[in-house]
Amino acid sequence: MNFEIKYKDAMGRIGILKTPHGNIKTPALMPVIHPGKQTMDVKKYGAEIVITNAYIMYKNEDLRERVLEEGVHSFIDFPGPIVTDSGSFQLSVYGDIDVTNREIIEFQEAIGTDVGTSLDIPTPPFVKRERAEKDLEITLERAKEALKVRDKLMLNSVVQGSTFTDLRSRCADEIGAMGFDVYPIGAVVPLMESYKYSELVDVVMASVTHLPDSQPRHLMGAGHPMVFALAVAMGCDLFDSAAYILYAKNDRFMMPTGTYKLENLIEMPCSCPVCTSYTPEDLRKMEKDERMKLIAQHNLHVSFAEIRKIKQAIVDGSLMELVEQRCRAHPYLLDGLRNLKNYTSTFEKYDPASKNSAFFYSGPESLARPEIQRHLKRIERLPQKENLLILPRSRKPYSKNIHRDLGSFYMKVPGDDVNVLSSDLSRPDLEEIFRDLQIVVVDVPFAVIPLEIDEVYPLAQNESPLKNDLDALKFVREAAEKYMKGFKNVIINEKVLKTFGDFKTEWCNLCDFYSEVKIGPDDLRVSDEERIRYVADYQFGEGSGNALFGDKNQKKGIKIVKSRKTGKIRHVYDGETLIATLRASDGVFVLDREGARRLHSHLEYPKNRVAVNADAEPFAREGKSIFAKFVIDCDVDIKSNEEVLIVNQNDDLIAFGKAILCGHEIMNFNTGQAVKTRKGGL
Ligand code: GUN
Ligand code: ZN
Repeated sequence: MNFEIKYKDAMGRIGILKTPHGNIKTPALMPVIHPGKQTMDVKKYGAEIVITNAYIMYKNEDLRERVLEEGVHSFIDFPGPIVTDSGSFQLSVYGDIDVTNREIIEFQEAIGTDVGTSLDIPTPPFVKRERAEKDLEITLERAKEALKVRDKLMLNSVVQGSTFTDLRSRCADEIGAMGFDVYPIGAVVPLMESYKYSELVDVVMASVTHLPDSQPRHLMGAGHPMVFALAVAMGCDLFDSAAYILYAKNDRFMMPTGTYKLENLIEMPCSCPVCTSYTPEDLRKMEKDERMKLIAQHNLHVSFAEIRKIKQAIVDGSLMELVEQRCRAHPYLLDGLRNLKNYTSTFEKYDPASKNSAFFYSGPESLARPEIQRHLKRIERLPQKENLLILPRSRKPYSKNIHRDLGSFYMKVPGDDVNVLSSDLSRPDLEEIFRDLQIVVVDVPFAVIPLEIDEVYPLAQNESPLKNDLDALKFVREAAEKYMKGFKNVIINEKVLKTFGDFKTEWCNLCDFYSEVKIGPDDLRVSDEERIRYVADYQFGEGSGNALFGDKNQKKGIKIVKSRKTGKIRHVYDGETLIATLRASDGVFVLDREGARRLHSHLEYPKNRVAVNADAEPFAREGKSIFAKFVIDCDVDIKSNEEVLIVNQNDDLIAFGKAILCGHEIMNFNTGQAVKTRKGGL
């Protein structure tokens, strides 16, 4: 196996792809090298891997002999990994080519290509279904044949199926099951050329969701830096670009925010060596060939800079923030971004549980991010109280920054069919309500934030504008209304009503009934006992808090130790035994041995577990990390960066640690680390 994941964000990954000519880091851009014509040394701009065309070399007798003699690496003068395409693109342009699938595979093997490609049929978008189906049969047959013909050659197998998402998925399933090294997504150039980014999203998602997670995916012909971030976020790892040279031939400068024509420029568009050495006027005066080379250099500089920026964003956990910025470069890219909201549940499976950077709300599109969906699902696992009190937004963490002057509170009491405050409610009734009260903040974009979990990532680690947009207000109001349905009495602060509207119910001013009632920060404290149990339930599932720390009323020796510097909860002990530590950066628990034991006996198999085979058991017990190839089963709902239990095939707890991959990936991968073990010795 030849691919492993190092970092993840959204559905994007930083990976290592191993080839006979070295390992490369993905996401990677492969400049297209024209055999026999190339004059630019793409290594200078950051290329670690390139792609060239086997068919062009094959059909020209002179080129063919030379490349067969000296090998493709020497022939195009590139020592690193080389991918070759098969002539399918020529087939799609000229309708016919002069080579069979078998011949072109054998040729690619003979010239020493690192990753070869079978002769797939690039079916254009929006064709008749019959054509797409017929083409697909041929593509699949040729993929199968390629596996038989090749000896050691690593192989691409291209996903086709035109714009029929079910055909794309079927193709991905079938070639995925055959076991190739890289999975390109083909025939998307026409979609990108016509700016049909929404359709591109459908095609890529239909393909990626049915391809194995364990191999890299190549978005074929994607060479404009404008789309890299969006494509990486959907799980694409490789790009190829002839665009750097094709755009340069037309005096076009590529930027991650769009394309500029030389004739319109009064200033150079970036700070690359070309843009800082020449003026647009200098370039306009040059010979065509010289100018083209310089613009191509600029195009490569910005394309590789964008790839670097994306990799940094993955490590930082800010890939979606970058995607949201990039997709504002063109309204049709924004359509692509908006279409992602149809795939939130898929993104949620892959998106890490915590990240190194805060969630930034950049507009209504951010409402479709998986973090929000995950949060609204997870609050359903928290302990259910009878009554609810809703606070307005304040500085985060909310519980430490409740407004001094909250003004009036309103209340509704459920009647048979009208919600009016019963006029015979008395002060003791109110005290009764406070005895079993859930306090939440209602805010954009996470909607409902119970105070007990207000320091858990990303509920404290997010920012949204102070001026709300209508989509956000509607989204939050609807989520809050749904949440309120679970409570008997609801008390709401006037600022919340003012911001979010009337919540479609009648509210009565509590102060009209109780002139003496004043609810202030002192009434609105959450206890440490509640906080640790809520965080555990939110993190591990219903009842986990009580399983780890005992029922809060029993108070049997649970000791909460706080940081002297910050006053935040740090450790929870039972007597002298450490159960878990609350991590300051993301507000969730890191287990210790006793915590792992208690959680293991509480959660039913396979919840939160990664099961390893007998070979790996002794290593896990010693605290060594878990490699994916030793995993025999796991909870597919595990997210990367989550705390997980490591068990053997009999579900005996042997260690615990932090997941590097999500559950789907752990099952799918046979290379690389799956779990970073914290402690064995159980
Ligand atoms: N280059 C751009 N699109 C395609 C495609 O669909 N198949 C192949 N083999 N190469 C391509
Ligand atoms: Zn430049």
